Amino acid sequence: MERRFAIIGHRAQSTGKINLNDLAGSTGRIDVLARAVNTGLFLSHGIRNETHVTLHLLGGPGPSRRIWFEGPKLCGVHPDERAIAGQIGKALKEPVPAIGQLIELHAGLWHSGGGLEQTLSEWKRENVRIFVLDAEGEPFDLKIHGSDSIGFVLSDDQPFDDSDIQAMNGLERISLGETWLQGHACISILHHYLDSH
Ligand SMILES: C[S@@+](CC[C@H](N)C(=O)[O-])C[C@H]1O[C@@H](n2cnc3c(N)ncnc32)[C@H](O)[C@@H]1O
Repeated sequence: MERRFAIIGHRAQSTGKINLNDLAGSTGRIDVLARAVNTGLFLSHGIRNETHVTLHLLGGPGPSRRIWFEGPKLCGVHPDERAIAGQIGKALKEPVPAIGQLIELHAGLWHSGGGLEQTLSEWKRENVRIFVLDAEGEPFDLKIHGSDSIGFVLSDDQPFDDSDIQAMNGLERISLGETWLQGHACISILHHYLDSH
């Protein structure tokens, strides 16, 4: 069963040079996005080949960018946060592709223009079952069918904003408990659940 994770980086820098020594500051919390990639994709030895992670870098300057880590194909990315951020940084040096244009930067690492709205409409077109992760949503109780593609939307360190809420209108909101956790911890919990069901 294919798993997809969409992470919204509300302030994440989308163009230019990032400061790898200040990931939690001037880059607009690219550290949070890098941790989500790490937890989403990396096993102790190897990469999860059923998992995709799409980062949404919405903080400018200039247009938003999406970066897609395609687990089944990804090569040459190492699991440490700084190395993942380095790959994000390489994408940021390239012009933002037009919305609808998907460019492969190297094996399994793609970028594209657009934001959450585009990702969700692509996922819907591809028949992905989509869930919004929200501590205040319905208790998590997923019935899985082997052939499903399943997608989860998470925010960064900030709450979903009005434009996220509008883009996610009508989607099921699921909770992993009343306590707000960090996004990468939620990804681990979901992997554990999906690995054992
Ligand atoms: C660090 S939390 C965001 C906290 C932010 N202050 C807020 O109020 O939304 C990052 C993301 O992880 C997911 N998340 C955190 N705790 C959760 C929970 N208990 N159940 C479901 N999703 C959760 C949500 O998608 C959340 O946006």
